[in-house]
Amino acid sequence: KRLILIGPPGSGKGTQSPIIKDEYCLCHLATGDMLRAAVAAKTPLGIKAKEAMNKGELVSDDLVVDIIDEAMKKPSCQKGFILDGFPRTVVQAEKLDEMLQKQGAKIDKVLNFAIDDAILEERITGRWIHPSSGRTYHTKFQPPKVPGVDDVTGEPLIQRKDDTAEVLKSRLDAFHRQTEPVINYYSTKGVVASLHAEKPPKEVTTEVKNVLSS
Ligand code: AP5
Ligand code: ZN
Repeated sequence: KRLILIGPPGSGKGTQSPIIKDEYCLCHLATGDMLRAAVAAKTPLGIKAKEAMNKGELVSDDLVVDIIDEAMKKPSCQKGFILDGFPRTVVQAEKLDEMLQKQGAKIDKVLNFAIDDAILEERITGRWIHPSSGRTYHTKFQPPKVPGVDDVTGEPLIQRKDDTAEVLKSRLDAFHRQTEPVINYYSTKGVVASLHAEKPPKEVTTEVKNVLSS
């Protein structure tokens, strides 16, 4: 399957991705995770992306299109993939269409993580992540066994630099202005399924599985 996950910051894309990935043996391509790794490693890409990310603005279409183009060539992505955080502009969606057309492939489903903005601040400001695995926790909704420590490796958890109430406002603004039109773009193709993303994680997983098995 070839899937796209679209939703505002904190809507649960990164939480559901590992579950869907394991269930359907897909590769998980998260542009935000890839960009954060590039920033941490201070690569030329990371240096270009850092400022926009810290302000909660989108990085340029060219940068992310190149990352995805490269990543989709991996053998592990040939059977199918989950795009988490891409495409985020209509230009990115059009570029993705071109890439897929070359391979004779198409998107099977776009999962729309529909949720009210008001819920997102608490989710974002309580999030803790384990950077190397991408595992995500929440102080209230998904607490680790030991506070500040990854359940599996025992390594320390960190908070994302853009996970403040202030930067969230810009991220939401970018979502409504630049990414919501992408949902309409795919609606006209008849591939969008909307989820009740405000529900607890397990219930969202059930909705996802129902959509993908129908
Ligand atoms: P990115 O990393 O994609 O961030 P985002 O879209 O803002 O999304 P988040 O990762 O914040 O939310 P999520 O939906 O994954 O939430 P999660 O599951 O972790 O992008 C970051 C930046 O990179 C962008 O601002 C931009 O600068 C740049 N960028 C990336 N892609 C780009 C692109 N294509 N073009 C241009 N720029 C790009 O959940 C959040 C919290 O809530 C967690 O703590 C979790 O435990 C908890 N939680 C999850 N689900 C539930 C639930 N159902 N109930 C209760 N709590 C829950
Ligand atoms: Zn995420």
